[in-house]
Amino acid sequence: MVRKVASLVTLAIVASVLSASQVGASAQDDARVVVGGDPAPQGKFPWMVRLSMGCGGALTAPRVVLTAAHCVAGSGDKSITVLGGVTDLKAKGAHTARSVKVVRAPGFRDETHGDDWALVKLDRELGLPTLSLGRAADEKGALTIMGWGQTSEASAQQQQKLRYASVPVVSDADCAAAYRKVDVNLVKNESLCAGKKGVDTCQGDSGGPLVRQKGSSWVQVGIVSWGLGCARKGYPGVYTQVSTFRDAIRSATRKLS
Ligand code: ARG
Repeated sequence: MVRKVASLVTLAIVASVLSASQVGASAQDDARVVVGGDPAPQGKFPWMVRLSMGCGGALTAPRVVLTAAHCVAGSGDKSITVLGGVTDLKAKGAHTARSVKVVRAPGFRDETHGDDWALVKLDRELGLPTLSLGRAADEKGALTIMGWGQTSEASAQQQQKLRYASVPVVSDADCAAAYRKVDVNLVKNESLCAGKKGVDTCQGDSGGPLVRQKGSSWVQVGIVSWGLGCARKGYPGVYTQVSTFRDAIRSATRKLS
């Protein structure tokens, strides 16, 4: 999210264990993050929304947005505005709504410890298609990331136009081995890693969906959660593993709808 607190926390955790020289050296200026991506065509990702605190989200029910727990302050936040139906945040004709209730995953502590999901109930239906939740079998091959977040680790500039990119899945074993080097323990059964050098989500993309195309529709397999910097070689993006929380998210959504 743009509100720097959460990302700084993550960065602080992972950066504190890196030597100053490593951190300096890896502040790549030209990694293209959502990301090594392209501008999204209007209508391609109709369930994609932008939340006012600077996160992404996906419409999981007509009046409910699925996002990251680290994007929301806690339950009962009525100050979030949600914008959807456009790729250009300044375009006319956006569908907007306000939050009336927030449900944050019960076990959430911070991004790197798992449980990074939350639901935002809207004051009205957004009138846009919903995105269904994937299963473990969908976590393979090329996945798609998207967001209005920064396009480089080094620049905090958010994008006015939605961007997207294709990323490969990275195995839990490889991902855990990478992050172990910087003393972060990947919560394997709650995380899905994806990305490669030069292609990744970044600050401001949090909460947005990681999706897989199935025929003409899409399923959500992840939620943008954290990473060491953005698009660095050997450090893929880490996403909340939707299949692990599928039942919990569905029952919480039913209670809100
Ligand atoms: N925590 C970030 C946010 O709040 C998302 C970071 C994703 N990082 C990555 N390298 N994939 O927007």
